[in-house]
Amino acid sequence: MPRYAYVNGRYLPHAQAAVHIEDRGYQFADGVYEVVPVAAGRAVDKDPHLDRLERSLAALHIPMPMTRKALELVSRELLRRNGVSNGLLYMQVTRGVAPRDHVFPTNTRPALVMTTKRIDFAGQSKFDDGVGVITVPDQRWARRDIKTVNLLPNCLAKQAAVEAGAYEAFQVDGDGYVTEGTSSNAWIVTGGGTLVTRQLSHEILHGVTRRTILAIATEEDVPFEERPFTVAEALAAKEAFVTSATSFVTPVVRIDGKAVGDGRPGPLSKRLLAWYRDYAAGLRDSA
Ligand SMILES: Cc1ncc(COP(=O)(O)O)c(C=O)c1O
Repeated sequence: MPRYAYVNGRYLPHAQAAVHIEDRGYQFADGVYEVVPVAAGRAVDKDPHLDRLERSLAALHIPMPMTRKALELVSRELLRRNGVSNGLLYMQVTRGVAPRDHVFPTNTRPALVMTTKRIDFAGQSKFDDGVGVITVPDQRWARRDIKTVNLLPNCLAKQAAVEAGAYEAFQVDGDGYVTEGTSSNAWIVTGGGTLVTRQLSHEILHGVTRRTILAIATEEDVPFEERPFTVAEALAAKEAFVTSATSFVTPVVRIDGKAVGDGRPGPLSKRLLAWYRDYAAGLRDSA
């Protein structure tokens, strides 16, 4: 259990950290969040995460709760107080507290909560063994590029995955193309060795790990295409994997119970994971 949470200007013992019942995040999911991986004592890709936070807030017309510099100071202090050097930093900003009404309140200050979590990224079998995914219809709204706390369709799909013995669900659009996972971006490796992941649009979250992996692929001369792929193409692919702040590069070895490739994590997925781990640990400064 982490020792402290940051809530609206105060570092509170985690068990006593609370928000008001009329916080609009609680009543309307009127807020956004970020999950920043922490490795070797540093927030990984801090700037792109803060850029996305700013973009998400701007899309919902919620002001930044404090300057970027101040957000960085608070996050560093919280990680220090909680003694987290590997894990994640969670930031959530809602429109704030106001009497319940769909219309935006005036003169309400945004509410900011930060928490941290320790994670042992080294000792997780998903990286070595790979994981299974199921496929589900994508039931989300049209602005999936905004990282809102409105995650109910994602939770329903993830629950279905876990009940089916899988790790993640690939969400599929009305034309049979994979959009992304419930909390990750989806990738395949074609028979010819080309990485494929869906292009950026309003239909997917613009994953920061996705961005870093594309930068690493560029440097390492790994060919890639940003385009949609179908479930059938994923099943016929040589490799598949998902990326996110806490999944890093997690090999996908089964889709709907059928093996991808030889059913083992593929060599390119493993190489990308190793390169990403080096990057996260500060051992390569690229991307
Ligand atoms: C729907 C969705 N797609 C993709 C991602 C991956 O994004 P990132 O790499 O920034 O963690 C996430 C992360 O939570 C997500 O929720």
